[in-house]
Amino acid sequence: MTTPTRLPADFVWGTATASYQIEGAVDEDGRGSSIWDTFVRTPGAISDGTVGDVADDHYHRYAEDIALMASLGFNAYRFSIAWPRIQATGTGPANQAGLDFYRRIAETCHENGITPWATLYHWDLPQALEDEGGWLNLDTAAAFRDYAALTHDALGDVIQHWITLNEPWCSAFLGYGNGVHAPGKQVGTDAFKAAHHLLLGHGLAMNALRESRHTDSILGITLNLYSVRAASDSEVDREAARRTDGIGNRLFLDPVLRGAYPSDVLLDAGLSDWFEERSGDLEVIKAPVDFMGINYYSRHTAAGPEDGVWSDPSVPSAAPGSENVRMVDTGADKTLMGWEIHPDGLVDVVAMVAERSGDLPIYITENGAAYEDQLGADGQVEDEERRHYFELHTAACADAVEQGLPLKGYFAWSFMDNFEWAFGFSRRFGIVHVDYDTQVRTVKKSGHWFRDFLAAQQG
Ligand code: NOJ
Repeated sequence: MTTPTRLPADFVWGTATASYQIEGAVDEDGRGSSIWDTFVRTPGAISDGTVGDVADDHYHRYAEDIALMASLGFNAYRFSIAWPRIQATGTGPANQAGLDFYRRIAETCHENGITPWATLYHWDLPQALEDEGGWLNLDTAAAFRDYAALTHDALGDVIQHWITLNEPWCSAFLGYGNGVHAPGKQVGTDAFKAAHHLLLGHGLAMNALRESRHTDSILGITLNLYSVRAASDSEVDREAARRTDGIGNRLFLDPVLRGAYPSDVLLDAGLSDWFEERSGDLEVIKAPVDFMGINYYSRHTAAGPEDGVWSDPSVPSAAPGSENVRMVDTGADKTLMGWEIHPDGLVDVVAMVAERSGDLPIYITENGAAYEDQLGADGQVEDEERRHYFELHTAACADAVEQGLPLKGYFAWSFMDNFEWAFGFSRRFGIVHVDYDTQVRTVKKSGHWFRDFLAAQQG
């Protein structure tokens, strides 16, 4: 047993979830349909054929869930607000019942000594907006601004921490590139336009929230970033690493923090002219943020096409590179998602952000691992591999802080097992086990480890 990692007393320790993955109650209290409600009903879209209609029933069980996270010692909870609960069709006046639900969540957090962190967009776009083109339509950026502004206006008294978008790379390239996520479109390099509209929505929302009456709000965005390296020193592999880092990291980091897109990435995509015409939007996209959120899971070791020939233009694929980048198996341990375990990469991505944002606070807004869990006859879940994963990554947080990087907090993904998008319920990430038949929650060994770890932090 290693000595527990000790981080500063004001370090934020949270868990994270997202609306569609846990809430259920898809038809209650005026909630409209989202692109995920539609997508999960597309034959073959979800590997185990499941849907999120009930999920963890958090909509009805939020109070016991928040009390349980408090009992483990967490001081923050990152959840997301379902846009279609606030505006059933994505525009127009707010649905009071939807706002009330998130007010109850925030108040329950406060009663339990937990700081609520709200993400405004964790992928559940109102279906009515998708019917008008979704994120391929510039108007969706303005609709997002309006939704963000009215939600923040209504809840800014009980929620201080706001995240505009979660992982826009996924929304753009899994949603519209390879179609593995909702809305399941494959539009080739037009997916880059979705990325731009998402980022514009972020900037418009930032400005709207900044101008609101809740002047003490703390605002940021969450990006999924990868530690990237070339499989070898060869030119083709270095080129693969450049493309992977370009689409996966720089395409999002640079406009938000530097007000400029990486020109090499736009060139690869054959979209320099389209982006040039929209360069005025960068003024909006670079709206100053108060913090940066990073979801960190893994490292990518990139190799180029075996025949050395790059497709032209470069189309993003499931891995954050262009379609003929290959991700090399380094032989390192992997989680059930097939994602390499590389704790040092957490320090790499924090440094990657700090290089662009200086002293701005950085939070790991997600980090975690899927494993095949067994609920034992004794009622315990001995998820030693996940426990170890968290031990390694919280230690990496300490390394980052020791190196002088402005890392201020860490959120474990996830508080409880939930609907893992295209994998349905077949992948469990929770530190709390959920029996989907009975909705019984069981704290796993990794959850108990967190309780002891967090108690030691205070010790
Ligand atoms: C990132 C996403 O934000 C979250 O929704 C997802 O469940 C985890 N990664 C694990 O894949």
